[in-house]
Amino acid sequence: MTVPDRLWIGGEWRDSASGETFETRNPATGEILAEVASADEQDVDRAVASAREAFGSDEWRKMSPHRRAELLWKLGDLVGRDADELATLETRDNGKTYFESRKVDLPSVVENFRYFAGLADKIQGETIPVSGPFLNYTLREPVGVVGCIVPWNFPLSLASWKVAPALACGNAVVLKPAEQTPLTALRLGELAVEAGFPPGVLNVVPGPGATAGAALVRHPDVDAIAFTGSTETGKTIMREAADTLKKVSLELGGKSPNVVFADADLEGAVRGASTGIFYGKGEVCAAGSRVLVERDVYDDFLEAFKGRAESMRPGDPMDKSTRLGAIVSEEQLDRVLGYIEVGREEGARLVTGGERTSWEGKGNFVTATVFADVEPEMTIAQEEIFGPVAAVIPFEDVDDAVSKANRTIYGLAAGVWTRDIGKAHRIASEIQAGTVWINTYNQYDSASPFGGYKQSGFGRDLGWEAALEKYTQTKSVWVAIDR
Ligand code: NAI
Ligand code: MG
Repeated sequence: MTVPDRLWIGGEWRDSASGETFETRNPATGEILAEVASADEQDVDRAVASAREAFGSDEWRKMSPHRRAELLWKLGDLVGRDADELATLETRDNGKTYFESRKVDLPSVVENFRYFAGLADKIQGETIPVSGPFLNYTLREPVGVVGCIVPWNFPLSLASWKVAPALACGNAVVLKPAEQTPLTALRLGELAVEAGFPPGVLNVVPGPGATAGAALVRHPDVDAIAFTGSTETGKTIMREAADTLKKVSLELGGKSPNVVFADADLEGAVRGASTGIFYGKGEVCAAGSRVLVERDVYDDFLEAFKGRAESMRPGDPMDKSTRLGAIVSEEQLDRVLGYIEVGREEGARLVTGGERTSWEGKGNFVTATVFADVEPEMTIAQEEIFGPVAAVIPFEDVDDAVSKANRTIYGLAAGVWTRDIGKAHRIASEIQAGTVWINTYNQYDSASPFGGYKQSGFGRDLGWEAALEKYTQTKSVWVAIDR
């Protein structure tokens, strides 16, 4: 398998202007996978110029929407064709299990390109009844050059969440993958040209956030930034984008509550709470990192949850029996272990886990960790840890559950477990979050909008309405019809 290691600009592999590279590693082994060309301002400038040129070209601008739809569908096919290879690259670069890459991420990427292929030829304006002898109609036009900045937890999947709708709407894209996981995004650039997209319509520039990412955000010829990542970086991006008044959408962090009532199917709730926080090693923006449990079933829940956590075997991500992959980087490992330490110091009760571990003496692994008796104000109940660490918090009744669930700056997602349908709907309406899962967790679909309330950001990924909002702009045209 060839590992892509250069910038993808204008349909060609290019070295960085400075000649600089950075290492991307397999966090399960520490092995260096590639020395990847590191984009700086000059490279971003070249990529933006290439996107601008493609955006203005007849080939792209005048392409029929049906053809654009075909190309997106084809790109989905090519991702499907290369799914084994892409999933392997993803697992090696990120440390997540191959099961997750191959059976969850890759199929969702294919689905996503197909869903947005369906949107490409259904983007239309309106005719509007206005006063006077005029015909007034609107055109839905692409925004222009869109900068997509994505994180390392679902590298290809989150790239597709942005790239697919942006292309469906007729934009040109510069994609900046995370420096920890640049490989699958680079392959996507190559596949887009194979699918038939004009070169330059999708450019991929790996590099550090502070250089490549910041250059993209500041670039005067970039019209919009679509970002997924930390709330802190989201704030920086919003500030930096102000100078050139870019259209910004931010899908940020979370501290999502998973609320278990005494009348729930307890076994299902335990399973849901476990995948809620341990899926993807907890490096999931919507991770159910606060597990709120009604007092009456608190002890029973904890015992079963502990058992589940202990069955989450860390190990070789390529091995089918592995349940917990490797934490993406040493830096992230230190953050997670740091939070575990803070949890202990602040007096939360460590029920299980809490340790660094390894596979054959290698890799960045943390055991599935459960803290109980967590107070809502403790650091581990307030800050996004982004690791396999659950904070279990008892509650007394519905009001107490809602109040505790909402006691956070975030509002990305929430889960509710109950057999009482009225209670479920009440919680769904009172919880401040962009997604609420009832008796399930971590469900996604290309057609269903996903994004945050409060400091989890604004703008939605997925779904056609949000795509139109983010990736098109409306032009109102007036025609005098009395002359
Ligand atoms: P980050 O938010 O800084 O990185 C995400 C992306 O933004 C990467 O592509 C990065 O290169 C880019 N970036 C960073 N600084 C930038 C800037 N000034 N301008 C433009 N782009 C920039 O997240 P990081 O540092 O990798 O992880 C730190 C913490 O952030 C994690 O521990 C986790 O809590 C949170 N995080 C949350 C994510 C989410 O989806 N909610 C995803 C990744 C991280
Ligand atoms: Mg890596």
